[in-house]
Amino acid sequence: MAELDSSTWPPAPIRTQRLVLRGSEARDRAAFIELFASPEVGAHIGGARPRDALERSVPEVPGRRRGLFVVELDGAMIGTITLDRRAAGLADHLRPDAGETELGYLFLPEAWGFGYAAEACAAALGRFAAARPGEPVVLCTRIANSPSMRLARKLGFTEVTRFEEYGADQWLGVWCSVTPPGRSTAARPRE
Ligand SMILES: CC(C)(COP(=O)(O)OP(=O)(O)OC[C@H]1O[C@@H](n2cnc3c(N)ncnc32)[C@H](O)[C@@H]1OP(=O)(O)O)[C@@H](O)C(=O)NCCC(=O)NCCS
Repeated sequence: MAELDSSTWPPAPIRTQRLVLRGSEARDRAAFIELFASPEVGAHIGGARPRDALERSVPEVPGRRRGLFVVELDGAMIGTITLDRRAAGLADHLRPDAGETELGYLFLPEAWGFGYAAEACAAALGRFAAARPGEPVVLCTRIANSPSMRLARKLGFTEVTRFEEYGADQWLGVWCSVTPPGRSTAARPRE
């Protein structure tokens, strides 16, 4: 989306049937701390962080950066979605020159199992596709992270490759709003 590269952030809120996706605000701080301190959330992403350290280090307005959406339900944050430029030097890339956009998602455990993550991610991908038709989005997740794998496939991500990183088997998938003629996805698996 245009906002990813411009100084226009946060973008206009995105409203779905049940949720609002918006930039972060000071009132989200406690929920950010919950998210990073949660052992369930951290299980597949390097672990939880100590709550007292988070209380000291999390800024007044956490997550105030381009590409990060707070997901709000009934006025309260339930998770975050990120659409970031995938860092160069990671174990695998869709394109050798890197720079592709990557989707990430973190939701508070009490918000799991209601389809909120799927609803929010679909809306963010829809906004991205409207701004950049045909541009792929990648997603990397541990294969052992079953809820994340289910979500990725439900959103329409298809496998590019599997690889090992951080001592775990990882899955790289790709999603594209436009399927080029004669191709099942916009991406070609790496050889
Ligand atoms: C990955 C994660 C976002 C998935 O959350 P989730 O709530 O399971 O995902 P969804 O929004 O797709 O919800 C799916 C579940 O909601 C259920 N559901 C209930 N009501 C629903 C509705 N109205 N619409 C859709 N699904 C609904 C579905 O049946 C499904 O249940 P199932 O997984 O038992 O089959 C969540 O587990 C998480 O935040 N994990 C920690 C962070 C993490 O690991 N992130 C990935 C890093 S790569």
